[in-house]
Amino acid sequence: METRTGEVIVRGLRPEDFEEVVNLDAKNTGRRREEFFRLKLQQNLQETGIKVSLAAEVDGLFAGFLLARVYYGEFGAIEPAAVLDTIGVHPDYRGRGVGAALIDQLQTNLRGLNVRSLRTEVAWETPGLLTFFQHMGFRPAPRFCLDLDPSSPRPGERDS
Ligand SMILES: CC(C)(COP(=O)(O)OP(=O)(O)OC[C@H]1O[C@@H](n2cnc3c(N)ncnc32)[C@H](O)[C@@H]1OP(=O)(O)O)[C@@H](O)C(=O)NCCC(=O)NCCS
Repeated sequence: METRTGEVIVRGLRPEDFEEVVNLDAKNTGRRREEFFRLKLQQNLQETGIKVSLAAEVDGLFAGFLLARVYYGEFGAIEPAAVLDTIGVHPDYRGRGVGAALIDQLQTNLRGLNVRSLRTEVAWETPGLLTFFQHMGFRPAPRFCLDLDPSSPRPGERDS
């Protein structure tokens, strides 16, 4: 009998993956973001919501995950759109197509849901992630992304 090793299996993310997700993310970011992921997994895996978050296994081991959501009518958009919140591949499994397999499966699932837009944001200090997204076919969006510090004075306003 042939045993195939190293095959990437992509499946839906489950609530019991919580610890694996936190551990893997901690390896990638150097921080244990338990509260962040507890909230995100709750949002992502609500019984009623559309489940588009995914896990990847290699030889039965948790090798990567992504968290994504489908939005309806956000920012004045009429068409549904998906947002990719986070993607992570365990350092031991990088460069073997795990990240690509996750994005491929997400694209397939979104096509099935008739979602025609997938958005994400990349931190300035993670150029590797940016290059990965570039390889996956992402391109800069034709939109301005704006930030405001709520405690900052309006430009031109002086303290009285
Ligand atoms: C970016 C990341 C998801 C890529 O996963 P991966 O499984 O190693 O990627 P793959 O092997 O599927 O590579 C897919 C493609 O992207 C390219 N790529 C992946 N990582 C790359 C990098 N760091 N630099 C340049 N290219 C990269 C590969 O060369 C490949 O290109 P090809 O399809 O043209 O051959 C993974 O490195 C990771 O998890 N990094 C940390 C992310 C992180 O910190 N997340 C938390 C904040 S969101």
